[in-house]
Amino acid sequence: MNMESALLPVDEVAAAVDGFLAASPATRAWDVETAFDWSLADAGRLTEGQRSAVQFVTLIEDHLPGYFDVYHRHFPVDDTVDRTTFIHNRELYHFTVRWALEEDTHARALARYQEAAGIADRGSLRAELAVEGQQPFDLPYDHPVQFFAYALVQEKATQMYYQHLRDVVDEPILASVLGRLSRDEARHFSFMADVVGRYLRVQGDATVEPIRDVIANFRMPLADTMRGYWRWALKIADVASYDHTEAYEHLVKVIDRTVDARSDRLDELVRFIGECNALA
Ligand SMILES: [Fe+2]
Ligand SMILES: [Fe+2]
Repeated sequence: MNMESALLPVDEVAAAVDGFLAASPATRAWDVETAFDWSLADAGRLTEGQRSAVQFVTLIEDHLPGYFDVYHRHFPVDDTVDRTTFIHNRELYHFTVRWALEEDTHARALARYQEAAGIADRGSLRAELAVEGQQPFDLPYDHPVQFFAYALVQEKATQMYYQHLRDVVDEPILASVLGRLSRDEARHFSFMADVVGRYLRVQGDATVEPIRDVIANFRMPLADTMRGYWRWALKIADVASYDHTEAYEHLVKVIDRTVDARSDRLDELVRFIGECNALA
């Protein structure tokens, strides 16, 4: 499959980007400097498992340069692509930079929390984050819908984890940080759901195999590179439910609300997603 020939028409991607930006006005933005009273952050009110969960998600969010780079590599905005592809990618870039700013803010908010709450000092945290930060990250896909289907699951899974964690922590500053983060992830999810829906509408059955491949090989970011990832992931799932397969049903919802009458192939995809869910 050729990435360039499988892209959405530019008007479709532009409409999704416009929708995302309309849902993200400056008046609703927040920043690390003023959104929280950091002097009240207190890790003494967290369980050991909750502290560990904060450290884990800080590492995940802090890998933003690696995630951001995936878009540059697979949706280049330079002279390596033809004009039509460039125009498509240039529209998408309006989303990508805003999204990246928000994700970078998540990384800073969590690091700032760790410092203010007394989990880690800034210097050692910086050094610790660099160990994972220098690990490569890529998504080995060849159809554009796969990047959005992957991100759909990952953003939803992250949103749900932040909500679950927020529900169990008894520390108001961390709770409000997690509230901000989960609302942003919900908006990121909505964009991905919108784009995946547009691929389904425009390309129909041609998207089935690529999406199936995403689900069949799904790994949360850094699962393959972070030292001790699985042990850690299990531990934080003990603190608050962390299960990306819970996000699969949201992909099924996108399929359902996009397609009036499922083709046999889409039916089969939905069945497959359901089986992956049940296995987990
Ligand atoms: Fe995030
Ligand atoms: Fe996100």
